[in-house]
Amino acid sequence: MNEHIQKVSTGIEGVDEILYGGLICGRSYLLSGGPGTGKTTIGFHFLTTNEKEKSAFITFGESVNQLKTNAAILGFEMANVSFLDFSPTSEFFTQSQSYDIFSSSSVESEPFIQKIMAEFQKNKPQRIFIDSMTHLKYITPDTHQFRKMVYGFLRYLNELKATVLFTSENDTKTEDSDLRFLSDGVIELERTHFERTISVLKFRGSDSKSGKHVFKIGDNGIEVFPKLVPATYSREFKKETISSGIPDLDELLHGGIERGCVNIITGPTGVGKTSLGLQFMKEAAGRGERSVIYTFEEAKNLLIERSENINIPVRKMMEKGYLSLIQIEPTKYSPDEFAYLVRKEVEEQDTKIIMLDSSSGYKLSMKGEDIVYHLHSICKYMINMGVTVILINEVTNIIGDFLATGLGISYLADNLIFLRYYEYKGGLNKAIGVLKKRLTSFEKTLREFEITGYGLKVGKPLLDFRGII
Ligand SMILES: Nc1ncnc2c1ncn2[C@@H]1O[C@H](COP(=O)(O)OP(=O)(O)OP(=O)(O)O)[C@@H](O)[C@H]1O
Ligand SMILES: [Mg+2]
Repeated sequence: MNEHIQKVSTGIEGVDEILYGGLICGRSYLLSGGPGTGKTTIGFHFLTTNEKEKSAFITFGESVNQLKTNAAILGFEMANVSFLDFSPTSEFFTQSQSYDIFSSSSVESEPFIQKIMAEFQKNKPQRIFIDSMTHLKYITPDTHQFRKMVYGFLRYLNELKATVLFTSENDTKTEDSDLRFLSDGVIELERTHFERTISVLKFRGSDSKSGKHVFKIGDNGIEVFPKLVPATYSREFKKETISSGIPDLDELLHGGIERGCVNIITGPTGVGKTSLGLQFMKEAAGRGERSVIYTFEEAKNLLIERSENINIPVRKMMEKGYLSLIQIEPTKYSPDEFAYLVRKEVEEQDTKIIMLDSSSGYKLSMKGEDIVYHLHSICKYMINMGVTVILINEVTNIIGDFLATGLGISYLADNLIFLRYYEYKGGLNKAIGVLKKRLTSFEKTLREFEITGYGLKVGKPLLDFRGII
């Protein structure tokens, strides 16, 4: 970052990330957005992020009481925030003669200016939120005066070294282009039927992450999920082969699977794909490494029960923090939000193996478009970070014609392991084989695969068989 500028947090981690550190200290920013897009809520975050700093909320619309209640509902501690209330009171209505800031006369700007100056000389707030600047239009006689007023006002605040965030009411009817020109940066909030987005349209003196980033408003305020750009992430890691813990399986894989690569385990329903993925995690837990499973289809409890029955101690692994099993509710997540979840695991928990069960489940669970593209990005991100990725892929044909994956994702795979059923002497058996291995050679024969109460069993090469795939 440029050493001449000092950045201050917006109070929202994801917004700071998009702004490459935060807002530039002592400048003024416009927060533009339609009704209910989350402007005031961002103001709460901004004003309360540093309890050692004094901050001020200037309101022209919502009453202070209402603001305080809304802030309290979302859990914001507003003790360091002083409120300057220019919202219309009920007397304005009952005593129609009363002069108020909303009477459109330039004379009315005087009490406003005096009140601001009195407060700021006394308290010297470092963060100021103005909600909304559009209201100054009503106390200035024309656009020219409005611009001069806003400009002078912001200059005055910035000379006090305050960082200012101000909102505008922006929809198709009321343009806020003059405010956009006057500010040092513009952050825009939008809302569609299925998501809210935030984007930085202008940011003088700094770069920012481009694009529209998805955010959510929940019980604790706003959470932003910056778009994932896999190429911007990398991490040093040892390019080593990791063992499955089953000697015959390692033999089939010529050592195991590599760190920082994508492994697709493909096969029909019930053949043991998840269990095979879990086997690598069991082995990783033995090395003290953490793994995570995102399950999109199977219920968490069922998965735990099933694994315990085949000697994979999932409960113990979870207790010790070596495994986390996360069930993803269908259509609750956008791909960017899911990516954010994965990033937290990788960057904060140092997770080494991540399994998505399954890729079609992922595809069905995520809201939005171009899901395969998003799956691709998240996989690229993980391998750049040295994570071993296991993608479970279900194929619909139980037996017979072989199909690697139905989603067109096999190109993602560094290693492609498949499980099949085959019929032998009237019985249904399972076989395992490798279809592709990018980094090393691999065995091109099939082996018998069995799931037992003692664990997974891989047999010797099935040399006598032909026509299984
Ligand atoms: N606990 C919550 N969970 C989910 N959404 C919430 C929660 N609390 C508030 N919201 C949402 O926050 C939005 C209001 O946020 P906010 O008041 O910050 O918007 P605004 O842009 O300031 O709106 P206005 O233009 O009316 O001033 C609403 O759309 C509401 O649905
Ligand atoms: Mg508001």
